[in-house]
Amino acid sequence: MATQLIKNGRLITESRDEICDVLITDGIVKKISSKLTDTADQIIDATGLYIFPGGVDAHTHMELPAMGTFSSDDFKSGTLAAIAGGTTTIIDFANQSRGESLHVTLDKWLEKSKKAECATHFHVSVTDVNERTLQEMQEIKLRGVNSFKTFLAYKGMRLTDEHMSAVMQKATSIGALVTAHCEMGEEVEKNVADFIAADRLEPACHPLTRPARLEGEATEHFLALAHKNSCPSYVVHMTCKESVDALRSAKGRGQKCYGETCPQYLILDDSAYQQEFDQACKYILSPPLRAKHNQNPLWDAIADGTIDVVATDHCPFTLEQREKGRDNFTKIPNGIPGVQERMILMYSEGVAKGRISLQRYVELCCTNPAKIFGLYPQKGTLEVGSGGDFFLLDPNKHWKLANEQLQQNVDYSCYEGLQIQGQIVGCWNQ
Ligand code: URP
Ligand code: ZN
Ligand code: ZN
Repeated sequence: MATQLIKNGRLITESRDEICDVLITDGIVKKISSKLTDTADQIIDATGLYIFPGGVDAHTHMELPAMGTFSSDDFKSGTLAAIAGGTTTIIDFANQSRGESLHVTLDKWLEKSKKAECATHFHVSVTDVNERTLQEMQEIKLRGVNSFKTFLAYKGMRLTDEHMSAVMQKATSIGALVTAHCEMGEEVEKNVADFIAADRLEPACHPLTRPARLEGEATEHFLALAHKNSCPSYVVHMTCKESVDALRSAKGRGQKCYGETCPQYLILDDSAYQQEFDQACKYILSPPLRAKHNQNPLWDAIADGTIDVVATDHCPFTLEQREKGRDNFTKIPNGIPGVQERMILMYSEGVAKGRISLQRYVELCCTNPAKIFGLYPQKGTLEVGSGGDFFLLDPNKHWKLANEQLQQNVDYSCYEGLQIQGQIVGCWNQ
């Protein structure tokens, strides 16, 4: 039996904050106590360090086909980077192509994810709603998928209200959750056409075609449909005050709904687009980075429980892949890297700067995503009987983030040069 004994660390979970020892046997937490004397294959001295449960990243896109290319991390490189950054579970998106059986969709992604080095689960994105799709949702749930993703954005992927309601009703009846990318797609496409017609093709136009107003409107609309259909719902990658307000009022009327944001929206802002192409192209993602005044409402919402989860939307494309859009921003593949940086960024910018507590950090990055997507308590906590994924963090280290320290398969970090407090000194993925 493989055993690990972590000695004298400060264990932080959603319900604990104590100096103790933790004994893990065959990947399961067996004992939590002070001064354990058990023998173990590995004894880890965690004096002066935090012991956190392994991170759960509820939003990644490894090896995602997009715009004639693939996101540059496959399940091997992306999950190794995740582990190096303290994340031991990812939930990726298996996207249905038109006319495709959901079983085929899930099989494709399961095949790709055989290379994964950490626990990997899936949301299945439903883009083609018909009798067979609805029937298959039930079967897919039985195959261990607890959530179905929908789009209000993106031509060819977004659902009509009628199809969205059908998916919601089916999800409700089978005990699944519906998640959504909320931007009013038709209006975005009209804006894009206007910018192209006006020969405005530089990266700075990208955020102008996708304003916060259209995200807020879509969030409100999605949550209203979920309310009408009594469907548990989850809004992915929220970026702005308008969306937060919509989620807060949905929760206020007693609706079962959840929200997610990502470090890029808490830390970066749309001034990134006011640079030369070589810099600005790094930040093309949807929804785009927002005006800085959105950051405080987002921090407030993650602190007060309105937003439940911080994930990454990790979807890296190299500078060479982005080069395709040098003369036309609409040709830059959308998405940015972040799976390796999330846990340290949220510690440094959140906990160390006093914006969130240690326990809120664990809830947002580990426990809540595990609970919402049906992985708790195997994932998302460290309790007797739970899974034993964990990472250690030294709170007293100060360093400057540089892409050369990261192992994500991409040639830049959006956080290059950022001063960081705290350092992950090891991650154990059971
Ligand atoms: O720009 C992004 N976020 N790309 C990944 C796909 C998505 O919409 O989440
Ligand atoms: Zn999205
Ligand atoms: Zn995404």
